[in-house]
Amino acid sequence: MAKNGKRALVDAAAKARRRAVSPYSGFRVGAALLTRKGDVITGANVESASYGLTCCAERIALFRALTDGEKDFVAIAVVAAAAGGPMPCGACRQLLAEYAPRAEVWIADSRALNSIRVYTVSELLPAAFLDVPNK
Ligand code: THU
Repeated sequence: MAKNGKRALVDAAAKARRRAVSPYSGFRVGAALLTRKGDVITGANVESASYGLTCCAERIALFRALTDGEKDFVAIAVVAAAAGGPMPCGACRQLLAEYAPRAEVWIADSRALNSIRVYTVSELLPAAFLDVPNK
């Protein structure tokens, strides 16, 4: 990735954010996943008139990546117009813990893309439920 690796992935998330389909909340979120190979897979939130069917940007990016056969992720950038950037919801934290446990989570406000907050997945979801016992 270009000059500052973090900024390039954050830029990809900011670009993906423009494709958000969020007519109900008006809140646009973009995400970009970086694979160990160096590929970038993006997503944006998609909302439904049946509100609970809404899918976050992070999950769209993760599901796209997983169904493209990607398994190893270095980072996920998440961008929206929120002070300090948008924090992933609990559902997305669970899926990141299961499918992208080694990824760093890079969070940025779309109005201040140079200011990036970095988290680990286990910081965001400590003591995660990761497997069905006794199956
Ligand atoms: N949303 C995301 O896409 N990612 C987040 O990290 C937080 C929330 C979306 C879901 C919904 O479309 C809108 O933001 C408002 O909750």
